[in-house]
Amino acid sequence: MNAIHTATVPSNIAFIKYWGKRPHARQWPANDSLSMTLNQLATKTSARISNSDDHSLRLGDRVYSRTDKNLGKTFVHLDRLALRFGFTEKLQITSVNSFPMGAGIASSASGLAALTLASLMAWTDSRNWDDLENKGFDRNLLADLSRLGSGSACRSLFGGFVQWEAGPNEDSQRYASLFSDEHWALRDTVVLFSSEQKSVGSTEAHELAWSSPLFIPRLSGLPERMNLVKQALADRDMQGLGLWLEAEALEMHAVIMTASQPVHYLNQEALQFLADLRTARQEGEIHAYFTIDAGPNIHVIHEAGEHERLKLWLQRRLAADRLLHDSVGAGPRLDFQSE
Ligand code: PMV
Repeated sequence: MNAIHTATVPSNIAFIKYWGKRPHARQWPANDSLSMTLNQLATKTSARISNSDDHSLRLGDRVYSRTDKNLGKTFVHLDRLALRFGFTEKLQITSVNSFPMGAGIASSASGLAALTLASLMAWTDSRNWDDLENKGFDRNLLADLSRLGSGSACRSLFGGFVQWEAGPNEDSQRYASLFSDEHWALRDTVVLFSSEQKSVGSTEAHELAWSSPLFIPRLSGLPERMNLVKQALADRDMQGLGLWLEAEALEMHAVIMTASQPVHYLNQEALQFLADLRTARQEGEIHAYFTIDAGPNIHVIHEAGEHERLKLWLQRRLAADRLLHDSVGAGPRLDFQSE
């Protein structure tokens, strides 16, 4: 039996969004972005060399092959890695998410990063980060490779508060943890507003960004916003951070809603929730701020000391199974099991 190599990779939530890519390049974002790596919301992926003719993928109780429509991305990514580095062996992959499938939580960041790490560990027979690095796979390269599977996956390779720099050309993208998970005990309570598959996926929606009249003005304001967000993080300034978080998320949605094919990700209930959260904050009931990805769910960001009060406020409005509680985390974990 071959050894099993496992990567457990958390999801991340962007404070400054990656939205839009430069044309004719391989996943080269239009702007720098910054995110908080989460702790509990994660994908655990194991890989082992198999004797089969093709890769196989087990997700929960089901085994998928490359002809399964929704999982095509996984096989394309495995083929891309194998071709680039000349790996010929096929892999047996098993993957589980810590969050319920169909909860509407995007799993592509944690999923594609975990797939990249586990498959490269198996192909190079690496047990840990040092082994990978000795075989030529340092963390920047691993992030570059994860990014080719799904842009935001690159930030999940690092713990704490992570910046992804677009760099002067597509091959000089850089990733760094600016502050570790111990710097500031921030929490993310995710409020689920829809479990439906998104009407327009992010790949397609990224393409549309340039067609919005708001996109170029957004890009010109982002360097200054990035500095202000970094300063608020350095100062652990919740109000300073929070006001930028909300402006940033709403601006991204404004770009999406003003593109040539507009997409409305937020439903009535979610919009009402944003207004209620702001009213409760103004009235001093809670001290929490929202951010939103390209989907209908809302991430409520707050300090650890605020968690109980916020939870009570949320539970008065929403069923407990619509809330997921998470915090800033330390980044991926690699494991090895010989059989
Ligand atoms: O990684 P993608 O291609 O699914 O794009 C995700 C973009 C956002 O989640 C909306 C923002 C971000 O920076 O994570």
